[in-house]
Amino acid sequence: MSKALITFNEEQRVFHLSNGEISYIMKIEADNVLSHIYFGKKVASYGDHKNYPHRDRGFSGNVPGHPDRAYSKDTLPQEFSSHGSMDYRIPASIIRRENGSNLHDFRYFDYRIDEGKPALTGLPAAYVNDAAEASTLTITLKDRDQEIYLDLLFTIYRDRAVIARSTKVRNELTATINIEKIASMQLDLTNSGIYQEVISLPGAHVRERQIARQEISTGIQAFESRRGASSHHMNSFVAIVGKDTNEFTGEAIGFNLVYSGNHAFELEKDQIDQLRIVAGINAYNFSWELKPAEEFQTPEVLLVYSDKGLNKMSDTYHHLLRERVARGQHQFQERPILVNNWEATYFDFTSKKVEEIVDEAADLGIEMFVLDDGWFGKRSSDNSSLGDWFEFEGKLENGLKGVADYVHRKGLKFGLWFEPEMISMDSELYREHPDFLMTEPGRAPSSSRDQHLLDMGRKEVRENIQAQMEQLLDKVAIDYIKWDMNRSMSDAYSLALSAGNQGETAHRYILGVYELLENLTKKYPSILWEGCSGGGGRFDAGFLYYMPQSWASDNTDAVERLKIQYGTSLAYPTSAITAHVSAVPNHQTGRITSLKTRSDVAMCGVFGYELDLTLMSAEEKLQVKQQVAYYQEIRKLVQFGDFIRLQSPFEGNLASWMFVSEEQDEALLFIGRVLANAQPVFNEVRLAGLAENSLYEDTESGAVYSGSELMNIGLYYPDFYGDFQTQLIHLKRK
Ligand code: DGJ
Repeated sequence: MSKALITFNEEQRVFHLSNGEISYIMKIEADNVLSHIYFGKKVASYGDHKNYPHRDRGFSGNVPGHPDRAYSKDTLPQEFSSHGSMDYRIPASIIRRENGSNLHDFRYFDYRIDEGKPALTGLPAAYVNDAAEASTLTITLKDRDQEIYLDLLFTIYRDRAVIARSTKVRNELTATINIEKIASMQLDLTNSGIYQEVISLPGAHVRERQIARQEISTGIQAFESRRGASSHHMNSFVAIVGKDTNEFTGEAIGFNLVYSGNHAFELEKDQIDQLRIVAGINAYNFSWELKPAEEFQTPEVLLVYSDKGLNKMSDTYHHLLRERVARGQHQFQERPILVNNWEATYFDFTSKKVEEIVDEAADLGIEMFVLDDGWFGKRSSDNSSLGDWFEFEGKLENGLKGVADYVHRKGLKFGLWFEPEMISMDSELYREHPDFLMTEPGRAPSSSRDQHLLDMGRKEVRENIQAQMEQLLDKVAIDYIKWDMNRSMSDAYSLALSAGNQGETAHRYILGVYELLENLTKKYPSILWEGCSGGGGRFDAGFLYYMPQSWASDNTDAVERLKIQYGTSLAYPTSAITAHVSAVPNHQTGRITSLKTRSDVAMCGVFGYELDLTLMSAEEKLQVKQQVAYYQEIRKLVQFGDFIRLQSPFEGNLASWMFVSEEQDEALLFIGRVLANAQPVFNEVRLAGLAENSLYEDTESGAVYSGSELMNIGLYYPDFYGDFQTQLIHLKRK
């Protein structure tokens, strides 16, 4: 019998979740207030000595009903705060009752421990394949006066430094309640002296997931999206770290929300330097009506602890997201090298043009052709036809089926682009169902890229889109789908909801998208699905549950990609990050980089091309052929090996990282220098993650190194000449 992952000490009233790496400890304090004791490196046993320092602090009143003036919810570290009972920090929930009161006071009520991990109805979440992999503690809190219950779920995995947390609200009153805010989790840390900085992944369209690191100062800091999607602008991930935490040393706690809609990570450093983190669905424009006997389940936050810097935190996320969040046939399959026609032709293609690209692709060894935007309705530019998922009559002379058959005859797989959540006003769908467009009736909706959101919270809307897609997928043999989404949400108003329920629109939209994704991915399990939102606008753990990979950015410039891919790797595995070689001058930046540099950078993700192969010279084609063959050799290592960041492009002119196989018998080093200098200083890099005593051979130069030599002495950068130089070094154990 393996050791219990969760214990409850009845005498101390202490819960201890622990595996070989981490401990998470909570205590039921006087009058049943649930306090937070500890989250961090594993402690062998806890002697109940971290007792709350009782102190009578002015303006921080008593725990309601408790006589001790030195016992206050305003200063006690708690697992889930209550609004309106003298805790003035950021509330984890605000729930309004029929009489208008939003006061509540949640106290410990009950607990249960289960083997495994429950699925979260209608929501993506981390899972287990076998109940022995994890245990789940459900702690139920109950309002002191009212029959409102909160189930706090804590799952600990046996072999991962991960705690998965979520919250369920249960209304057992005879009246309806209205949830105005409900967090997935709260973490109150008394050791804010350790966690002095917060790392987030802000950005913009074509500049996603740039690493930002800032001091956690007194007051409130929030990292959030109000755009209806997890967004380019602020990814649904943050980490708190020590001032000295770097890639290899120091402590870090990561918070990754498994959700694709509006999110908020709120941090508050309070009057006594305690740090509270509250994370979950953004309370902005959110409300949820809960009738008697109904429940509301929040999305899940995946908390990861590392005592060995950011690389270890990321490694835990990479394994978890790849192995226990992503699903489906392609989860562990090497992904095909594709060529996508978007930057090659944009909307301007014919069967002939497509066939020419496919011919070249076949000659070069490329494995899949993806037909991007423009094949449906009467879409010749981006201002029409979204919602009309039938073939554009006459645009492809041989028809879509003709293209698919041609691609397959040439031995390639065939992929197709969709943007299922959108509607153009110039579309058959809009003419037939103008009400499907999400907006308040009678009000002109805000347009973006000449398109609007469908109200995916409505069943009939989803059914219409699903039926259209199925009709096509049943007719044309499609191996891959790129699921795009090209605007932020506005005009969040649903015809399906009554006046008092409009605050549910944005979350119901996401739940609707998840339902549609579940239906389609189940019905077409052999299709490889790729998420996309104008590049990486919905690059989150929620989408990863349905689609094992996502287009990281519409920015294909090799230099800008250094930062985008480096930043993304903080929270997401390489198997999820797609990267393409495109033409120069680059369409987003105008920069010219060599074909080698472009492919070296793209090969550090799920690799492909996005340019007109027919315009390449014979010499370039030869290079592409070699690149394809090279990637086929390193593909498993890149997509499924361990990823280690070495030198950050956010800190200077150099970037380097590496991939190491699980058996440590193979590694790939990427090094890149952005700008050249006339009198260069020595640039060198020390490797990591290798077996100290093994010998590794550079597959190209034949040079042989010991693992400890590479990790301690390191390598000089090659004698680069010119800007934007990169090198891949493939090492194999001798
Ligand atoms: C945005 C995507 O990110 C691009 O790759 C491309 O598919 C366009 N949309 C097509 O409209």
